[in-house]
Amino acid sequence: HVVDATGLLVFPGLVDPQVHFREPGLTHKEDLASGALAAIAGGVTSFMEMPNTKPSTTDPEPLQDKLARAHGRARADHAFFLGATAENADRLGEWEQAPGCAGVKIFMGSSTGSLLVPDDATLERVLRSGTRRVAVHAEDEERLKARYAAMADGATVGMHPDIRDVEAALLATRRLLDLAEKTGRKVHVLHLSTEEEVNLLRERDLGELVTAEVTPNHLFLSAPDCYARWGSLVQMNPPVRDERHRDALRQALVDGTLTCIGSDHAPHTLEENGKPYPQSPSGIPGVQTILPLLLSAVREGWLTLGDVVRVAATAPADVYGIAGKGRIEVGLDGDLALVDPKVCEPLRYRWLRSRAGYSPYVGMQLAGWPKVTILRGRVVYRDHEEVGEADGAPLTFA
Ligand code: DOR
Repeated sequence: HVVDATGLLVFPGLVDPQVHFREPGLTHKEDLASGALAAIAGGVTSFMEMPNTKPSTTDPEPLQDKLARAHGRARADHAFFLGATAENADRLGEWEQAPGCAGVKIFMGSSTGSLLVPDDATLERVLRSGTRRVAVHAEDEERLKARYAAMADGATVGMHPDIRDVEAALLATRRLLDLAEKTGRKVHVLHLSTEEEVNLLRERDLGELVTAEVTPNHLFLSAPDCYARWGSLVQMNPPVRDERHRDALRQALVDGTLTCIGSDHAPHTLEENGKPYPQSPSGIPGVQTILPLLLSAVREGWLTLGDVVRVAATAPADVYGIAGKGRIEVGLDGDLALVDPKVCEPLRYRWLRSRAGYSPYVGMQLAGWPKVTILRGRVVYRDHEEVGEADGAPLTFA
């Protein structure tokens, strides 16, 4: 195949290590076909999907079911996380070795779904079972319970960052680092949201033992403006906070304290989002907009094109040891995202491919847009249209 890339930027296919594609059980929000389509439309050629589906992915059978559902329907390469629970804690070390398994995910605080490992004793059991890096949602359950219980009547979504507050995130991240040190198990802290956690990571400086991730939402939205404009469409856990945190997270991404980006693509329907706070669900779609947002940061001058490659492709592949992905190199998979830097109009609804049908970045002035996406040497998306059959394959790990 010959693809004319004259005037285009050529990136390695992006690796999104944190998406919620809702299948099985919640496919009115998204499914593996629509989620993967949004992925390749945004230059993402590999995704790792989270276990809080219905049923939750807590043993090999639902994991196998997800792989079977993805076969012939998902247009990007993929792997699926196992969710940790008190019941499966001691089996995870065996199960995490299954083909197509991304590893183990822990929810330390309640979020969408019922997965939860709130206490240190069970956390330690999970961390002592197995060897792969464990992905962790770090918000402290006891603190969250107390904050929700103390919530005033008539609370609005603008108070979400105060209810799920800095302390809730910081407490959990600190407990996690202590347990990682105690057990020697490698952990990956998902969606860091506070300056205080960034400072903690720097102080503790645990090297390879601890990697950390940030979402584009925490880098490109900020309170109070985002809540005034978008309401519960930008409600997520942990919450988008004010500019102090946003700026600290940007700096930490540039200097490597934060290892990589993950979109935490977590769609809900507009109807669900219309419920009054706090019944409104948490989660923002975002797999398709990672690259355009990072390009806008390059235009603003706080990221380089090299940083974009590092944080959105190379580093997520390295964090989890994904084989053959994350860089342009002879012998690796030919996954590419070709971006047209001349596309600088506002982001349009009609380009979005997620079932969610909305994005808080619609209307944003673009600094480039993925024009062609190539998976293992084959064009899979071009000029807003999918190309060919869906042939995403399970990721493999070093
Ligand atoms: O905002 C969130 N939404 N945070 C999570 O941890 C889960 C996610 C979801 O699945 O909706």
